[in-house]
Amino acid sequence: MSKFDMAALTWDEKPMRVNIAQNVANTIKKHIPLNKDMKLLDFGCGTGLLTFFLLDDVKEAVGVDTSKGMCEVFTKKAQDNNLNNVRVFNIDLTKEDLNEKFDVIVSSMSLHHVKDTQQILKKFYKLLNEGGYIAIADLVKEDGTFHDDNEGVEQFGFDLYTLKSMFENAGFKDVKYDIAYTVKKEREGQIKEYPIFLMVGRK
Ligand SMILES: C[S@@+](CC[C@H](N)C(=O)[O-])C[C@H]1O[C@@H](n2cnc3c(N)ncnc32)[C@H](O)[C@@H]1O
Repeated sequence: MSKFDMAALTWDEKPMRVNIAQNVANTIKKHIPLNKDMKLLDFGCGTGLLTFFLLDDVKEAVGVDTSKGMCEVFTKKAQDNNLNNVRVFNIDLTKEDLNEKFDVIVSSMSLHHVKDTQQILKKFYKLLNEGGYIAIADLVKEDGTFHDDNEGVEQFGFDLYTLKSMFENAGFKDVKYDIAYTVKKEREGQIKEYPIFLMVGRK
């Protein structure tokens, strides 16, 4: 069982996570003209916090996540709410393929779990229809103190200039970023701020 499998059942109980997803969703809506013809992919969807905040703005949504426990909670939320326009796949998108295309790809707090950022960005590009949008939210470069346990953390946040170049190398145009939310945590008796960016681009 992975740490995400164990965390899945109580994942949505932490207000910080809900706040991040809500603010990321709002910032996505500010930068991307979502509409009811769009099919959305949420990479590293977890329990679907971000997916479900955006579902009413698109036609349908698909989540992908490596954690079986997260996917089970995602599915239960969809079933409990009688939603038939949302699906989840328990796959590792860095290793496996999805046989469908999307109009928008979103992600919140999952890119830092991927070792090869450039490779996954190229995969996102392939998965998008022409004119499709990408919107990725994650931590701005930090000093490794954000997580209490850094197991599975491949990057201590991202340098935004470097990441913007990676988006452009993958083929994305009109790449820009915004700060979607700032998490405050107590560290060594002081309040420390961890800004979360949203980087958007277009195929
Ligand atoms: C910090 S959680 C964020 C979950 C959700 N996006 C949220 O904001 O609540 C990171 C998620 O990414 C998933 N993940 C990590 N690597 C992945 C990969 N290669 N493919 C798909 N999901 C992955 C984990 O299982 C976990 O659910």
